[in-house]
Amino acid sequence: MAEELTPETPETAEKPVKQRKNGLYPGVSDELAENMRSGWADTELHGLEPIAQAAHTAARRAALSARFPGERLVIPAGNLKTRSNDTEYVFRASTEYAYLTGDQTQDGVLVLEPRAGLESTEAGGHDATIYLLPRSNRENGEFWLDGQGELWVGRRHSLGEAEQLLGIPAKDVRGLAAALADATGPVRNVRGHDAAVEAALTDKVTAERDEELRVHLSEARAVKDAFEIGELQKAVDSTVRGFEDVVKILDKAEATSERYIEGTFFLRARVEGNDIGYGSICAAGPHATTLHWVRNDGDVRRGDLLLLDAGVETHTLYTADVTRTLPIDGRYSEIQRKIYDAVYESQEAGIAAVRPGAKYRDFHDASQHVLAEKLVAWGLLEGPVEKVLELGLQRRWTLHGTGHMLGLDVHDCAAARREAYVDGTLEPGMCLTVEPGLYFQADDLTVPEEYRGIGVRIEDDILVTEDGNRNLSAGLPRRSDEVEAWMAGLKQA
Ligand code: GLY
Ligand code: MN
Ligand code: MN
Repeated sequence: MAEELTPETPETAEKPVKQRKNGLYPGVSDELAENMRSGWADTELHGLEPIAQAAHTAARRAALSARFPGERLVIPAGNLKTRSNDTEYVFRASTEYAYLTGDQTQDGVLVLEPRAGLESTEAGGHDATIYLLPRSNRENGEFWLDGQGELWVGRRHSLGEAEQLLGIPAKDVRGLAAALADATGPVRNVRGHDAAVEAALTDKVTAERDEELRVHLSEARAVKDAFEIGELQKAVDSTVRGFEDVVKILDKAEATSERYIEGTFFLRARVEGNDIGYGSICAAGPHATTLHWVRNDGDVRRGDLLLLDAGVETHTLYTADVTRTLPIDGRYSEIQRKIYDAVYESQEAGIAAVRPGAKYRDFHDASQHVLAEKLVAWGLLEGPVEKVLELGLQRRWTLHGTGHMLGLDVHDCAAARREAYVDGTLEPGMCLTVEPGLYFQADDLTVPEEYRGIGVRIEDDILVTEDGNRNLSAGLPRRSDEVEAWMAGLKQA
């Protein structure tokens, strides 16, 4: 049993703030400071409805509690990262924190505190507290003089409001690090997000035990609950609209660059969601053979293909991950179609292998088998196909695995143990991508010239259901003739 955690509001909170971080206001007269203290309305909000996922986050915390009885568990959201001087990168809360709280506030920390009186072997005995920065102090001028004061960065929720919204008791985070440093008892922390929390716990945790916590939270996310499946569908639906937007502006991209495509998709992501879930790959022509082409500064030319791999992240941080490889002028050339149709056939085989009870690897094996068959049939590899697969020779052109788990992270559940993921079994509620590809580098002298510089990937987001699977991204056509008809329709619209 851990000793009770009793953070106090630090003294610094009462002291007057000296000046704004960037030094724009080096001196403040006593008269102005006095003036700024008063004349502000009470804007406290009451009777707030809990966020939609509050019941789900409570169930996730209960599962975590049961796994680590008697131990204090510390899950930070993370802090702002400086870009330069007093400007910061856009903040994105840690996946573990968002999963367990539904909150996305910088500097927030969730602590699961073992309940007093319970033996360490008893399950389910934790109280959750969320530690947050309260509303800015108006007495000491923090709200207008500090760079992170609400006057500069916007109103945040009071602790009372946060409690109503999240369904978790909230306390002031500013006393937390000191309290953690003083506390006794077993503790685990999700590392990599909050340096102050880590410094406070440095003598109390071990890398191995902290990793067990991270692994557990990664594996817990493999099966999505009903709320999560709804969010993933929202992410995909916005992504479908983003792809439609791109088809409509291909002429503008031809006149400028791949950046026009990137910006167009980003607009949809920001208007309908929180952000893009990962850097959009807007790869025209031979750039399609570079797996993570995110520079997006190349030309967009008629006659070439555009490989667009992009996903909208919802306001609750769930992301889609979809790829279509489109003929920029609306029609695939003969060689483009041949390669595209092979990847399509491979993807069909992969999707058909996604069902509950199947091994996770099955869809990859099914997709790779088709691609190896094609490469042998085209004379690029010598058969038999089984020998090619055994030696992995097809990988010169297939390059990557055929998919991954999808959720809050684009490569979700990445810390899961092999037996719970790549060597595991599919279950209803898992969501994964199926994304085979063929990539012929522009300088690959082992293939006929007509293949060189062509890259094709088709990627869909597949939910494992009770009796098979559901393609969440079926709203975008995949067959080559259907892609052409869809593009023609959008260009006319
Ligand atoms: N967009 C990264 C991936 O497809 O895995
Ligand atoms: Mn992708
Ligand atoms: Mn992917």
